[in-house]
Amino acid sequence: MDDVSDRAVDILTEYVGSIFAKCIVKLSSRRSGCSFDAIDRQGYERLLTELEAGMRNYITDDHRRGECREKLVALLRVRVGAKGATAVPRATVVDIAEEADIVRARSAGKSLAASMGFPVAVQIRVATAISELARNIVQYVGKGVIEIRAITTPQAGIEVVAVDDGPGIGNLDTILDGGYQSKSGMGLGLLGAKRLMDHFDVATGPGRGTRVTLRKFADH
Ligand SMILES: Nc1ncnc2c1ncn2[C@@H]1O[C@H](COP(=O)(O)OP(=O)(O)O)[C@@H](O)[C@H]1O
Ligand SMILES: [Mg+2]
Repeated sequence: MDDVSDRAVDILTEYVGSIFAKCIVKLSSRRSGCSFDAIDRQGYERLLTELEAGMRNYITDDHRRGECREKLVALLRVRVGAKGATAVPRATVVDIAEEADIVRARSAGKSLAASMGFPVAVQIRVATAISELARNIVQYVGKGVIEIRAITTPQAGIEVVAVDDGPGIGNLDTILDGGYQSKSGMGLGLLGAKRLMDHFDVATGPGRGTRVTLRKFADH
């Protein structure tokens, strides 16, 4: 075994013990046809897929599995870095001005959630919440940004911040109480975004624009 596979075994040992750790590493390398010391972009993805399959079998706790995956991704990414791994950035800022930007923001959120080991259902919740915020920026302001990042405090998870310099939301309390009837009647709106996530707060006001912060934590 080379250095990198030893490091992978070390990481996995913390979660599954050394015997299973060695099995997962050897099997992943064999099944992906990719050696840990010569990883290219395609090899990286195949290897990661196999490692994920191994982790799913032995690490039942979602949070621990996500954490283990993060460490393995960090290890492998370093090896592929120079050749341009497809690694998902840990933080992205998406400029929002038109329909296509909503799609970009949505998929950036989904990819980050996926790379952090969130289950598909949660990836979709995050993506949907992002769409609602991005759509509001397009509809009511015209332009703004959506920041999407992995966070470790107050808990490990994903944070989405939608920022604009628009007119602010006048009737925020009514909207969040559910007493507001959306003009379009479509989508989930702000209240829907709130319900999809674990943390939600809004800072808004005339002349202050609007800043909506959403978080989804890894162990929810
Ligand atoms: N970023 C924003 N800037 C200004 N007003 C906003 C913004 N986001 C939402 N709003 C206002 O809040 C209302 C409620 O938004 P939302 O809950 O998304 O429902 P909908 O967009 O379907 O009306 C909108 O109709 C709009 O008046
Ligand atoms: Mg809306």
